[in-house]
Amino acid sequence: MERATPLHHPKSFENGVDYEHFSHLRKNNPIFKQSHDVYPEGYWNLTRHEDVVYVSRHSQIFSSRPHPFLDPEEGRSMDEGDLEFLISLDPPDHTKMRKIINRGFTPRRVADLEEKIQATVDRLLDDVAGRKGCDLVNDIAVELPLQVIADLVGVPPEDRHYIFELTEATFGFDQTIPAEERQAAATKMYAYADQMCEIRKEQPMDDLISIILHAEIDGEKLTQLQIDLFFMLLQNAGSETTRNLITSGTLALLNHPEQLEMLLNDHSLIPSAVEELLRYTTPVMQFKRTPLEDTEVGGQKIAAGEPIVMWYCSANRDEDAFENPNGLDITRDPNLHVSFGAGGPHFCLGASLARMEAKIMFRELLTRVKDLELDAEQESLPRVWSNLIDGYAKMPIRWSQIAEKPKSVT
Ligand code: HEM
Repeated sequence: MERATPLHHPKSFENGVDYEHFSHLRKNNPIFKQSHDVYPEGYWNLTRHEDVVYVSRHSQIFSSRPHPFLDPEEGRSMDEGDLEFLISLDPPDHTKMRKIINRGFTPRRVADLEEKIQATVDRLLDDVAGRKGCDLVNDIAVELPLQVIADLVGVPPEDRHYIFELTEATFGFDQTIPAEERQAAATKMYAYADQMCEIRKEQPMDDLISIILHAEIDGEKLTQLQIDLFFMLLQNAGSETTRNLITSGTLALLNHPEQLEMLLNDHSLIPSAVEELLRYTTPVMQFKRTPLEDTEVGGQKIAAGEPIVMWYCSANRDEDAFENPNGLDITRDPNLHVSFGAGGPHFCLGASLARMEAKIMFRELLTRVKDLELDAEQESLPRVWSNLIDGYAKMPIRWSQIAEKPKSVT
């Protein structure tokens, strides 16, 4: 079943995910092939939860090489370097690299960021407290993950805006940025990561770059190129995603006043609300895999080399996996959403960090911001132009008051 605009084209998502269409597909055509200019045999679409889980967890058959990004057919955005991205590797190369990176991503290191996340959220709300409204995307949601990654990686405060600008230029879903400008920004990002490593070779610091620079697995270290690419991947993977959980999640709560009310009255529901908002908003819509051998998924024969796209946004609304899948239920338990991936070796490295950021941000929004409302027609909100990320480019909001943060008593 082909649509006028195929799913790989960002235009399919210019008004958000068409959940009705995915529901129709799950019932009538759950695994279907789509023609594509770049993939000679076309590509397969998986829309059911159980098929997405199956493919994610069988990485020995379903490869992430050469990379897991579904080509939008608008000119390739990835160059040869993407072969070395963590997210583009298969075991055992992936296992080795992930083990090294995990050393800098331990639960203790993530827990240590909690105070900094709290301070950043407090500052972001303080900065707009004198106003009656702001753009939730650009004034608040963009900045939080960028600051958190900078804290984690070790980018000093005076360089952060430079790195933020490079990140936006390299990965931002702004169609007007020409390819050469993106490439130039990426080159500057590599140069910056190289320079950080030079400093840390002499003088290790308590940051992720120092740890992955010095860590060894089976006597092997990461190459400089691998570190540079990881530095870049982190900026993108950590920021384009978390910002959309915050903005689309806020909008989902505003659209479900009874759920918002329940949360306002009981903050102990915040952790399960964050899981439900992850499911409901699915900030990363899909990733691609390529089978290394002839195989079968959900009863459908698929030949080696034919790309397969796992639609997480559809799996998260699958009637066979979730009761009332199109409803928002902040008490949902269990909640086996696939927003961080559906298990398997590439499961989101930053899941616990993203959860922590969202919990703190939602707690403060609920506590400090009074009478929060959308300050625009919902239909008019511009979205990011992407087949990968679902989110808004702008979201004007208003409030009656932002309460001062009580000073903590020491
Ligand atoms: C709401 C926020 C986020 C969402 C929805 C999200 C989603 C995802 C998804 C779907 C994957 C692929 C999983 C798979 O293929 O099985 C992934 C991988 C990854 N994520 Fe996240 N992510 C988020 C936040 C973060 C943050 C905060 C960081 C880092 C600071 C991060 C770093 C990564 C990395 C490095 C990978 C690649 C892991 C690998 O290939 O081994 N993500 N994420």
